[in-house]
Amino acid sequence: MTRRLRLVVTPSGASAGAALQAVDLNCVFKTGGADVKVLHDLTFEVKEGELVCLLGPSGCGKSTLLKIIAGFLAPSSGRVLVQGRAVVKPGADRGVVFQEDALFPWLTAAENIAFGLKGRLPGKALAAEVTRYLELVGLSPFRDYLPRQLSGGMKQRVAMARVLILKPQLLLMDEPFGALDAQTREEMQTLLLSLWAELGHTILFVTHDINEAVFLADRVLVMEKGPGRIRREMRVALPRPRRKEGEAFHRWYRQIRSELRSEDRL
Ligand SMILES: Nc1ncnc2c1ncn2[C@@H]1O[C@H](COP(=O)(O)OP(=O)(O)OP(=O)(O)O)[C@@H](O)[C@H]1O
Ligand SMILES: [Mg+2]
Repeated sequence: MTRRLRLVVTPSGASAGAALQAVDLNCVFKTGGADVKVLHDLTFEVKEGELVCLLGPSGCGKSTLLKIIAGFLAPSSGRVLVQGRAVVKPGADRGVVFQEDALFPWLTAAENIAFGLKGRLPGKALAAEVTRYLELVGLSPFRDYLPRQLSGGMKQRVAMARVLILKPQLLLMDEPFGALDAQTREEMQTLLLSLWAELGHTILFVTHDINEAVFLADRVLVMEKGPGRIRREMRVALPRPRRKEGEAFHRWYRQIRSELRSEDRL
């Protein structure tokens, strides 16, 4: 059920069907004069249309890795390729959703979603797109609400819609539901799966939560820390739609949990 990571990279650097490749990534931070290695020789790929969860203990470098892929941070060595092209800076091919996304507090839900497309589409076409994405995330009745009038889950729906409307090829999500209560979190997981089925993005999703990873992922990359590296890759062979109750789901939960070293337990 598990296998060691192997990546075949063609001479051009592109591997067939890969939306994302990370090759020999290392990241060292200078802290108080000392070098601290945060990521060590990370190599993996995510295929077109795949939903991959990155699971690992706090401090193992998950956010650092996402920032490197997003182009916010340069690795100390190694490279990232998106659709075969080297990442050197942020770009419209990648959309990022964080745990608590700062919406513009003075703009309504609809205006927040429209913001990134303003001036890039004629007014009517933009309005139609915003209406479509409001509907996709279930917020049509709340289009004119300000962020302070929305619940945490609704704000994350706006955050997802305003990224998705830009049609990134790769969606990078850093614990996007981590601040939500359990029930809202489950609703958001189901929403993400329906958006994924409808829009067909490639998704790299960071989580602390084994349940969330088993529910969402085609594959789980289990990380360990000190320095951060990928310990194991596991393909979650559970049919969709998945149910969190039931023995098969729990078997996967236990199997992934056993891959986390005791000192790396979440
Ligand atoms: N800019 C920075 N300068 C120095 N050290 C940093 C910097 N950013 C992150 N680190 C360190 O790198 C390590 C990994 O941090 P990172 O935020 O990537 O972890 P994480 O896996 O996302 O953790 P969490 O699950 O708690 O969000 C931590 O030890 C952190 O202190
Ligand atoms: Mg983090």
